[in-house]
Amino acid sequence: MTIETMGSEALARIAAADDAAALESLRVEFLGKQGSVSALLKTLGKMSPEDRQVEGPKIHALRESVQNALAERKAALDAAALAQKLAAETLDLTLPAPEVPQGSVHPVSQVMDELAEIFADMGFAVATGPEIEDDWHNFTALNMPESHPARAMHDTFYLPDEAPGGGRMVLRTHTSPVQVRSMKAQGAPIRIIAPGRVYRSDSDATHTPMFHQVEGLVIGEGIHLGHLKWTLETFLKAFFEREDIVLRLRPSYFPFTEPSVEVDVGFAIESGSDGKDRRVLGGSGDEPGHGWMELLGSGMVNRRVIEMSGLDPDKCQGFAFGVGVDRLAMLKYGMDDLRAFFDGDVRWLRHYGFSHLDQPTLSAGVGARA
Ligand code: DAH
Repeated sequence: MTIETMGSEALARIAAADDAAALESLRVEFLGKQGSVSALLKTLGKMSPEDRQVEGPKIHALRESVQNALAERKAALDAAALAQKLAAETLDLTLPAPEVPQGSVHPVSQVMDELAEIFADMGFAVATGPEIEDDWHNFTALNMPESHPARAMHDTFYLPDEAPGGGRMVLRTHTSPVQVRSMKAQGAPIRIIAPGRVYRSDSDATHTPMFHQVEGLVIGEGIHLGHLKWTLETFLKAFFEREDIVLRLRPSYFPFTEPSVEVDVGFAIESGSDGKDRRVLGGSGDEPGHGWMELLGSGMVNRRVIEMSGLDPDKCQGFAFGVGVDRLAMLKYGMDDLRAFFDGDVRWLRHYGFSHLDQPTLSAGVGARA
């Protein structure tokens, strides 16, 4: 076969190769170590100088044209593949957008974010503690020693495990143990809120075995009941977004506070458009058409609790409060059955949930709704 026919045959076959693999095997067949063009190149070494002068340029030209043809064909195949891919991936932007499942922020999360925002503005940090708590932190250090009658009020879930400080491990019945943990961990002064899950063996329209509380604790020198009242008033005005919130502090009893106060908030009775009466927070409960609603427990931290938490009650005092987060959400956003909070019903979540883009801020309103 002459070099010319070899060349035209090779170029024809390269032009006919219809994919990258076929092209590669042609490259090996012509230009590989054992390839036909490579074999021709090897013959040059054994030729006389005269023959080489004639044959050399032809063989080199053959190699070059095969190389060029391979590169050209490869570029053409690549371009065709790209064009095909682009055609397959075409997006029709005139089509309607597909339905994207949209989640929502649960009212409990929303209220916790609102609380954090309001209290951060007053210089409070957010503290946390374990939901599986030991007997000592949940009860003893809060001035509820074993056999204390207040323990019975808590309908505690006990775990089989023994607790390090005696007694059994429990699912914490309140967020108050975070008070003890914070005092032990950071000493005085302290300004924290501790939101989180708590557990009690109880279930009806306003009680679920798991619910949420937020604990507040301020420890420092010369802290008194006036600070407590101002803090709660400022918090509740910001939370309910109205200035006419009126509080009533009623003497009460909690083992971990002395004195203890229960805080009531004034409400007015208004008849809604559906003909049903609604309670609307605001104003003194003593005005005509008004009443008081119990909202939260609080008091000055019992010196025994301060002592058991490793601080000196003669040097620092403080106040604490505890309030149900779910209850705050129900009051603010108007749900009347607590159990629905934890059913995971998407219709309820869609109705009462919040947009994740709607971050509570004091300037825009902590309860802004999308
Ligand atoms: N721990 C109490 C409960 O779960 C709530 C409470 C009352 C917390 C008074 C406090 C407080 O910090 O001072 O019922």
